Amino acid sequence: MENIPLYKDASQPVEARVEDLLSRMTMEEKIGQMTQSYGGEYASEEEYVAAIRAGKIGSRIGCDTPWAGSAPVKGINVVQSNAHQKVAVEESRLGIPLINGRDIIHGHRTVAPIPLAQAASFDPEEVKASARTAAIECSAQSIHWTFAPMMDICRNPRWGRVIETLGEDPYLAEEMAVAMTQGFQGDDQTKEDCIAACAKHFAGYGYCEGGRDYDASEISRGTLHNVVLRPFKAAVTRGKISTIMTSFQDNGGTPSSSSNFLLREMLREGWGFDGFVVSDWGSIQQVELWGAAQDKKDVVRKCLLSGVNMEMINNLYPKYVAELVAEGEVPQQIVDDLVRGILRIKFRLGLFEKPYVDIEERAKDIRKPEAIAAVRKQAANCMVLAENNGILPLEGDALKGLRIALVGPMVNERRSMGGAWNTGGFTEEFTTIHEAFKEAEKKYGFKLIVHDSELWDAQVRTAAFLADMIICCVGEHCDMTGEMPSISKYRLPLGQDDLIEAVRTTGKPFVVVCTSGRPLPVPGARDFADALLYSWHGGGETARAIVDVIFGEAEPTGRFPITVPEHEGQIPIYYGRKIPGKVVECNKDRFNKERKGQLDKPWIYGSYEYFLPMYPFGYGLSYTEFALSDIKLASAEIPYGGTNKVTAVVENIGNRAGTTVVQCYLADPRCMISRPCKELIGFKKLRLEAGEKREIEFEIGEPAMGFYDENGVRHVEAGEFKIGVGFDSDVELDMSFTMAK
Ligand code: NOJ
Repeated sequence: MENIPLYKDASQPVEARVEDLLSRMTMEEKIGQMTQSYGGEYASEEEYVAAIRAGKIGSRIGCDTPWAGSAPVKGINVVQSNAHQKVAVEESRLGIPLINGRDIIHGHRTVAPIPLAQAASFDPEEVKASARTAAIECSAQSIHWTFAPMMDICRNPRWGRVIETLGEDPYLAEEMAVAMTQGFQGDDQTKEDCIAACAKHFAGYGYCEGGRDYDASEISRGTLHNVVLRPFKAAVTRGKISTIMTSFQDNGGTPSSSSNFLLREMLREGWGFDGFVVSDWGSIQQVELWGAAQDKKDVVRKCLLSGVNMEMINNLYPKYVAELVAEGEVPQQIVDDLVRGILRIKFRLGLFEKPYVDIEERAKDIRKPEAIAAVRKQAANCMVLAENNGILPLEGDALKGLRIALVGPMVNERRSMGGAWNTGGFTEEFTTIHEAFKEAEKKYGFKLIVHDSELWDAQVRTAAFLADMIICCVGEHCDMTGEMPSISKYRLPLGQDDLIEAVRTTGKPFVVVCTSGRPLPVPGARDFADALLYSWHGGGETARAIVDVIFGEAEPTGRFPITVPEHEGQIPIYYGRKIPGKVVECNKDRFNKERKGQLDKPWIYGSYEYFLPMYPFGYGLSYTEFALSDIKLASAEIPYGGTNKVTAVVENIGNRAGTTVVQCYLADPRCMISRPCKELIGFKKLRLEAGEKREIEFEIGEPAMGFYDENGVRHVEAGEFKIGVGFDSDVELDMSFTMAK
């Protein structure tokens, strides 16, 4: 080990290596480490490579080929990644490897369900396994770092990026964010198939006003601490996440990318984060556009002082950092600390030891049959069965010769199955619903009728004559979701409600499958269809998973991770609302009774229609029925600072095996601040055989009872707590206990 600098010695502790390397770096090299480039900022690959050689680029984003004239490569150009890495490692002065980042959001070559759908699975173990597969596949193609999980709480599904969120609830988002982080990062980050994860967008992007992407937000400190920041804190403290991405938006006058409060007070001083923060694409520049700085140089000053280690896309840092330090506007110590964070993660990832990918060796990790089977199963597990009068699953002798018609705009749709953030899967590897049913025709013995007409009235008429039942495939194209495409009309795209109505008037039994990124309201299906299944954009195997679910090979075990509004005027609508000071009687039974047969008279419901969503958070049906009994609190009174426990017996009272999600909610009705009417504090997903019973328990400890005041100080207050256990967020909190003073 002689003659090699200490920082290259893997047996040395990471911190010693960081200090040794930092002490050898010039200012220009430090700024290089703080710079991420996609390549497009350079006119040619030669110029880009020269910048890597000069130590001016510390990270690549994308790893495809943005230069005119480069050989077109589908997806990531791994050969080129290795070549660029070789320049960084073998031709730059200090040989610091590049860290390659890319949006690996829901699977990579094997495309998994969109994150919102994954949250619907209420299955953190499966979510973790799915992220692990994505990490294995993308690391085999030179990616060391993903910009996921996104953990923006979203209570406005008009926002196109709702698909990438983990839903409306902080507890569910915490559990899912930690699971995804652990899946991506693995248990030993130095392993070549473990990558760095990135908690984004820090913070409050999901609260963009009106669900308009990139718009400003107005989040109170109370909501910030008790809702928005919770998954981030969990990802840092429990998940040990390596990196954080700032968000584009301005919250109440401070853009997140220059927020000292978020990036220093909360993240570093509060939670002890020691990895690095990357800006979002151009979000540093946007601080100037928001008008929250005097000029570009002032923006960089603010972002450095608040703690943005790396600028995504080479833009302002290279221009101003050295100048600001020379002028004494930013202490050298601050820049050094920011560089430390980046080097620390590069060392933790083992990049100095294993900078390259063995392309041939790792090719075996791409699209393994077991990975494809796993996303197919996961897609089914994420699906939410919202209505079913017993028609599903289609099984048994009745299927033989049954004439099933497929109609609707999603029947032949391929690309949308992969979802808006598919950056690694090949569309031609996805199956359409039509193809999946065709594959299944022989196996199940039904007869498929698909009228290949773009005109759905022709499809419906043909189906009406020929079919015994109709499967109506509605939904939204993936291009209507994701970054930028927010929608103002929260409903099925043009004509699809009419299509459902046309299907209804055929008088044939019908099932509606909604393949979308958002849980769109489908009132015609809720009121008239024999079944309604939300399949989401469930990844490359969505269509086959729909077939599995419809024919009972798999169960739709998902539950809505976000409230489904009945009308767009209700938005934002979420279960954990505050109880209004002026109580409005909202009687659900009466509402439902009045609604029947009065669909053309919305004024009849008066104020009810503002409050009652189409489906509540946590709702979803199984193929069997479950009952809860013996729901008991361990103690009616606990000492101050103590814990409690609630137990219940779950029984499968149907006649087939099945899966359910039991949920526990808490309320703290009298408190120094007002708190939500209920909050999810635990869930258990379990599969029981027909007739099987199982006792479950939920711990009620500080994480469930505690809250933050508006200064971010955590409290648990003595007094009454209410508890309810049920199958969705509509549950009554009918038990209570007291915590003594
Ligand atoms: C902008 C998006 O907001 C962010 O989520 C993403 O990771 C970056 N672009 C990089 O593609």
